[in-house]
Amino acid sequence: MNYTADPRIIVALDFDDREAAEALVARLGGACGFYKVGLELLTAAGPDLVRGLVDQGHEVFLDLKLFEIPNSVAGAVRAAGALGASVVTVHSMGGTGIMAAAVDAAREFPRLRVLALTVVTSMTGSDLADIGIGASTDEQVLRLARLAAEAGCDGVVGSPREAGPLRTLLGPDRLIATPGVTLPGGEAGAEAGREAGGHARSDTPWAAFAAWASHVVVGRSVTRAADPVAALRRISVGR
Ligand code: C5P
Repeated sequence: MNYTADPRIIVALDFDDREAAEALVARLGGACGFYKVGLELLTAAGPDLVRGLVDQGHEVFLDLKLFEIPNSVAGAVRAAGALGASVVTVHSMGGTGIMAAAVDAAREFPRLRVLALTVVTSMTGSDLADIGIGASTDEQVLRLARLAAEAGCDGVVGSPREAGPLRTLLGPDRLIATPGVTLPGGEAGAEAGREAGGHARSDTPWAAFAAWASHVVVGRSVTRAADPVAALRRISVGR
């Protein structure tokens, strides 16, 4: 099927080996130009996989979810920049020092953007209460997003349901990437939804775009679809 990559769609390569990841990338061909590499694949396959994607002309969202002392965060951000990543993620719950260190370290890599994770989309209000946070998830997401913007982050990662309030808070220019999206119906969508009892705050990709998310991060709804290119096209055209 002829379909040109939609730059708003990031496909999560959640695989435990390089061959499986590269097979999907080959299958998607020109239909995807932006891949998320997370801790599973990075640990299993190593940084060469990231270099390979960059060499092929793809953008890479390196989902390192950094939460460390600022000096170590800065080092990891520089390593991500040296690999050619376009995005690296840092936990905003780590506070201003960690985020500012990441932003500062990214300055020498003009294409590298730092996105702050707010509240992981699998968490609920009761999970927050368990760790001593009395705010609702909505309140906590906005509080952390404000902190991320003040620290100079290029944007945030949040659930589709928070994209609208985040856009209002952050203005038109910052990136808002929304994982936790599922396609209604269809084998892969149903499977992803069921498995991710995890998707406590999920919605469709179209709802995320309608709420002015700049990007959606989609995994199993594409990677496990019988026709992954058709699934991407469906996200892009909105039905
Ligand atoms: O669920 P799916 O396979 O689409 O997940 C793709 C990516 O989105 C995962 O790599 C994960 O980091 C992220 N995700 C998330 N919150 C969820 C589900 C997935 O942040 N509830």
